Amino acid sequence: MSGRKRTGVLISGRGSNMSALINACKKTDYPAEIVVVISNKPGAPGLGIASKAGIPVKVVDHKKFSDREAFEVVLDDTLRQAKVDLICNAGFMRLLTQKFVEDWRDRQINIHPSLLPAFKGLNTHKRALEAGVKLSGCTVHFVRTEMDAGPIIAQAAVPVLPDDSADVLAKRVLEAEHKLYPLALKLVASGDASVQGEKVVFSKGQTVHGPYIAPWFD
Ligand code: GAR
Repeated sequence: MSGRKRTGVLISGRGSNMSALINACKKTDYPAEIVVVISNKPGAPGLGIASKAGIPVKVVDHKKFSDREAFEVVLDDTLRQAKVDLICNAGFMRLLTQKFVEDWRDRQINIHPSLLPAFKGLNTHKRALEAGVKLSGCTVHFVRTEMDAGPIIAQAAVPVLPDDSADVLAKRVLEAEHKLYPLALKLVASGDASVQGEKVVFSKGQTVHGPYIAPWFD
């Protein structure tokens, strides 16, 4: 497919969502290609996975910079050198400044393992269990300055079962993440999903009346 959106993936660790995106991009009719994977942590296991897949990897170690702004100057430069159109945060655990977020406004998306706006931040699954929710899930959204917030592109719900531990629930949600993130990137990269008035609208109209409930959950 010509005109595929050049996508940079930001990671901090394991990289399983990054792997799901890499696999999706193997399809010739997928509207995005991954041109660089950047980690803020030198030892992130995802770096090895990306290298093996033949994708250029870079480390921008936040610890080497005196402040967030200096880190982001290099991060931004690395993305621009790779001529990135879209950024996918995939387990990227750094807060970004307003400047960076605004510079990439509506061109940066993130996945979070809850049905936002519930359970932003860390220890999501533990807090979901403590709250006694009966459904959890994951959300892909455009990035805004507030952590784990921004116009929602797609959500998938999974059941919370009576004997779930945080780890068991995390695994069930992660399986949904691996399906949802490629779907959401496809919607954004193809131009089907766009932001209007801080809500995501779909040019083909198929999801105007609600978020995606993952099709494998019926
Ligand atoms: C994923 O569950 C992702 O949703 C979460 O980190 C994990 C990364 O796993 N992200 C956040 O919590 C962002 N607030 P991965 O490295 O295997 O994709």
